[in-house]
This record gives sequence, C-alpha cells and structure tokens, in this order.
Amino acid sequence: MARNRWAVRLLDVGPADRVVEFGCGPGVAVAALAARTTRGLVVGVDHSPVMIRQAGRRNRAAIRAGRVRLVQAPVQHLTLDDVPFDAALAVNTVGMWPEPATRLRDLGPLLRPGGRIAVVSQPRCAGATAATSAAAAAELAALLTDAGFDNLRTEFLDLDPPAACVIGYLPTRRPGREEAAAGPEPRRAARPDGSDPQ
Ligand SMILES: C[S@@+](CC[C@H](N)C(=O)[O-])C[C@H]1O[C@@H](n2cnc3c(N)ncnc32)[C@H](O)[C@@H]1O
Repeated sequence: MARNRWAVRLLDVGPADRVVEFGCGPGVAVAALAARTTRGLVVGVDHSPVMIRQAGRRNRAAIRAGRVRLVQAPVQHLTLDDVPFDAALAVNTVGMWPEPATRLRDLGPLLRPGGRIAVVSQPRCAGATAATSAAAAAELAALLTDAGFDNLRTEFLDLDPPAACVIGYLPTRRPGREEAAAGPEPRRAARPDGSDPQ
C-alpha cells in the first residue's frame, strides 16, 4: 500500500493526465492515480482475471465515471485504444515479465514524446538488504536506458528492504527517419594529449 502510494507521488501526475499502470494487481495504485487524475484517465493492465476483478471492486465508482479502465491482458500481447499516455507505472511486476527488456522497448511507444515512466522494485527474496534494492535499481535503470528513456532518477523508500523507484523520460521528439538510420553522431578522436577536440 505505502509502496504504491509513494510511487504515485513520485510519478507526479496532474488532473488531466492519462496514465497506464502495467501489472496493476488489486488496483491500489490505480485508485491513488484516479484520485489525482480527476479530468484524465487511468488504464490498469494485468493478465490475472482475479486481480482485474479485485481492481474493479476497488475502483467501481471511477470506472462508472469513465475515469478508470481495466484491461485483462499480458503486457507481451497488449494493444490499447487510449494511446498516447502521459505517464506509466509498473510496481513489482517487471521482474515477472518474459523478456523485460523487449517489453519495455515495446511499451515505450504507448507514451507521448516526453512521457515518463516510474518502475518500482522491492526485492522479495530471502535475506534481501538495502544492497539488494540498490542492485535492483541499477538493473531497472539499465533496462529503461536500453528502452530509450533518459534523465533517469532513482529514489528509495525506507522499507525493509527498501523499495527502489526509477523514473525516466522519453525524449521530447522522436528521431526522424534519417537521423535514426544515421545513428548517433560520431565523436571525433581525442587529441594525442588525451584532450577532447569537441
Ligand atoms: C507482485 S504483484 C504487484 C501488483 C501491484 N502492482 C502492486 O504493487 O500492488 C505483480 C502483478 O503483475 C501481474 N503480472 C505479472 N506478469 C504479468 C504480465 N506478463 N502481464 C500483465 N501482468 C502481469 C500479476 O498478475 C500481478 O498482479
């Protein structure tokens, strides 16, 4: 509960934002998001029918008002009508996905340019410590970088073990076809004395 509400605060959504939560479970974060997005939309996705039912009960009024929509689907076979979203959330779920790197790369385009994602992990393995959480955060940051997110920021919630949240942003514009084909601009060779000519 605390972990979900903390993650929602970090995602910093506004009243008109459109937000998608992957692996929403029983809908705790969906409810916290819907309380903030009073003029927006929250879409909760989970592959478990049991979780979707629980999330439905928890968010009944907002669903009736058309401010929350729940989708029962695995993230690896997800198509959504409500794109693009301003923000995305995934709490303690990315580690359960098949090929999480591919999934995050595929899910990024559901967000608008400049859109943000918050990915949370609180390690549940026996003997997990703050070092385990730090390692999980580093792993999430690498996944998000690989999926095209930048300006990454990592926060920890003081639980036992700590929960780690990595927040990343998509670039505000997608590279044009020619830029993408050309790849990153080549760096000039360093001078013999090791200084950078750029
Ligand atoms: C540990 S629970 C976390 C639930 C919720 N985010 C929370 O923190 O309360 C993980 C959730 O991810 C969902 N999940 C796992 N793999 C998934 C997948 N491939 N596609 C969609 N949902 C998935 C599970 O059904 C479960 O509800």
